Amino acid sequence: MNQPKIWLSSPHMGGSEQKYINQAFDQNWIAPLGPNVNGFEEDLKKYLFSTGHGSKENSIAALSSGTAALHLALILLGVERGDEVLCQSLTFAASANPIVYQGATPVFVDSEAETLNISPEHLEEAICSRITKGKKPKALIAVHLYGMPYKVEEIHSIAAKYEIPVIEDSAEALGSTYNGQKCGTFGDLAILSFNGNKIITTSGGGALVTRTAEMKEKAVFLATQARDVAPHYQHSHIGYNYRMSNICAGIGRGQMEVLDDHVAKRREMHQFYQDFFINSDNVKVFSEPDENIFSNHWLTIIELSGKNSLTSEALRKHLEKENIESRPLWKPMHLQPVFKDAPFYGSGIASAAFERGLCLPSGSNLREAEKERIANALKGFFEEKKEKLEI
Ligand SMILES: Cc1ncc(COP(=O)(O)O)c(C=O)c1O
Repeated sequence: MNQPKIWLSSPHMGGSEQKYINQAFDQNWIAPLGPNVNGFEEDLKKYLFSTGHGSKENSIAALSSGTAALHLALILLGVERGDEVLCQSLTFAASANPIVYQGATPVFVDSEAETLNISPEHLEEAICSRITKGKKPKALIAVHLYGMPYKVEEIHSIAAKYEIPVIEDSAEALGSTYNGQKCGTFGDLAILSFNGNKIITTSGGGALVTRTAEMKEKAVFLATQARDVAPHYQHSHIGYNYRMSNICAGIGRGQMEVLDDHVAKRREMHQFYQDFFINSDNVKVFSEPDENIFSNHWLTIIELSGKNSLTSEALRKHLEKENIESRPLWKPMHLQPVFKDAPFYGSGIASAAFERGLCLPSGSNLREAEKERIANALKGFFEEKKEKLEI
């Protein structure tokens, strides 16, 4: 294989990251605190609330990962052993794992077909069923999968009706909006991820978005080993080592300068696939269902009809031969062996999406020559299938 690998989504530096890292070195802020951490939090706050939604009280805590942010969110909402937490089934395992860290049980909910995110219908069914069984869910984790906003209004009005707080998993959706408001600003708490494959990265990192400064303070307290105010080391709570390092935050500050550009480039990749498949009856490029929803298109996903052996697995293997990475959609959590005993409410949308869907290379750093290679490889696959049909 002599062609270099085309990745699904790889880190894309903008240029200033090194400057902030150098500043950290010059000032010896090589620690999980420092000016870059504060600066990155401020940059994120400005970005998320630039649309005029939210209040001065909204705050951001930069953390070591999105998973850590989800874990702290559950702790802050008082989720404990024996509780139940609703969670979108079609997601990455990191959305659900922290529920189990807390000794609670995830209750998985299917997707709706338009955004592939949590289904309002099955959400309400799940809530009513759990209440009938004697336990009202303690929280809801809703996910903007692949950058596509979930149906915020419907989901949040159901959650409000039953007084269930929402943790908005916006790990993949920085830069997406719903009705002009940025994803990551809707939940009682929201989380972001800056893992290496995300729209911006800090190599590894995450953030918790809170509605009050007091909530942020609590999160930072827990994220820094829960040290009581005392000259010696005194602890009245179990703490965690979840704060973001000042070096990673330096990368984040540089990445914030190019975030809008990354969103535009990812959307261009989505348009590229839309144009490519425009006349295909067998391939659907997953897109915004209406104009209130604006996706950052972190990953473009397609759905193959399965007709004439046009399957996602056949295409994945074909691209792999060309050294082009593509991936099946997240395998729904209710189908995962580790969650086999968890309750699930749904009708098969998430599992069908998993069977038919494929994530295509979507990086903001893909060059024209690479796009051409992708287009040729796709063409090769579809021509090959057509040949077979003609035999
Ligand atoms: C939907 C979703 N939730 C949570 C996470 C966890 O984020 P992190 O990898 O930063 O822990 C990720 C990404 O990795 C994700 O895709």
